[in-house]
Amino acid sequence: MSSVIEEKVKQLQGDVITWRRYLHQHAEISFQEYATSAYIENELKKMEGMTVSRPLPTGVIGVIEGAYPGKTIALRADIDALPMVEDNGLEFASVNTGAMHSCAHDGHAAMLLGVAKIFSEERAKMHGKLICIFQHAEELPPGGAVEMVEKGVMEGVDAIFGMHLSSNFPTGTFGVKSGVLTSATDGFTIKVFGKGGHSSMPEQCIDPVTTGAQIIMALQNIKSRFVAASETLVFSVCKVHCGDAYNIIPGEMVIEGSVRSFSKEIRERLPQWIEQIASGIAAANGATVECIYDYGYASVVNDPELTDEAREVLTKWFGKESILEIGLLMPGEDFSAFTELTGVPGCFVEIGTANDEKGTRVNHHNPKYIMDEDALYYGTAFFAGMVEKELEVY
Ligand code: NI
Repeated sequence: MSSVIEEKVKQLQGDVITWRRYLHQHAEISFQEYATSAYIENELKKMEGMTVSRPLPTGVIGVIEGAYPGKTIALRADIDALPMVEDNGLEFASVNTGAMHSCAHDGHAAMLLGVAKIFSEERAKMHGKLICIFQHAEELPPGGAVEMVEKGVMEGVDAIFGMHLSSNFPTGTFGVKSGVLTSATDGFTIKVFGKGGHSSMPEQCIDPVTTGAQIIMALQNIKSRFVAASETLVFSVCKVHCGDAYNIIPGEMVIEGSVRSFSKEIRERLPQWIEQIASGIAAANGATVECIYDYGYASVVNDPELTDEAREVLTKWFGKESILEIGLLMPGEDFSAFTELTGVPGCFVEIGTANDEKGTRVNHHNPKYIMDEDALYYGTAFFAGMVEKELEVY
């Protein structure tokens, strides 16, 4: 027999799809989610017993107090779109040209609105407090999560849950992993300073081009020689800027790249390793360097106990076969700020949206991305199931 909460999740699917389509059609990019936040705020204000606040102009918080004392649980949905032109022929495609919900954050926000509605109606049975965080700017470092934490949204929170719809997994499945889940996403810049001059007389110059080329190649040694083969690490030089003419040795080269890592210890040593390689090679060539390391999002690390509780809830609702025990995910995710900066345990789950009959296996961040809206039921159920359990809504 299904619970009251399970019935409510089913009944709400029409509303969740309506919210999702509205948000999809009115997509706004990171740090510009003004209309999106106003819409969410307005929808939350229609719900009974909901305290709504705007800690930031582009983010919204909804709080529901249960009738009985208990834990404080936070649920997080990101709400921003990406700067790209939608090209999928959807009836409700973005009317804001150059902003597209191609990473399914419209779905995340809609599902959280659904869960907010359910527990605003069920608060008389609820033990504790539910905080619904509608977070801006997940797609653009430094990200909205860190700002939300700085505004104190995590004060008194005992556990936080998050999720991401994903076209990498079939609809009806949940990607679950204990411990480290996503990569830490950092960037670096290396400026190589030489001495410019005539291309025919390199002996009068210090060539930043050959020096920079050696640095680019040697950076790969960090992965192959400095860390254990069992570690996952990606080094990609993606931008090189140098020179203006074919016959002038330039004075300077600028190299930019990204690093994805999973181990905290390795991440802490990366700036030093880059500096060591770049300055060593520069010295060997008579050049000098300046190295800048930009820390991006930390890895999402799932608390083992909360992850077990998620497995338990998902097994109860959908059976063990709905759970996919997944590996490390290379994309970054600023959900990590809510746990990393506060010490509050968290659990982040992937919600499958791939359905071959509907052609929804398209990559995220692609202009042709479309979502299987049936997946919204499963995501809403995950959040609702966790709240039902943690806040003993029986
Ligand atoms: Ni995303």
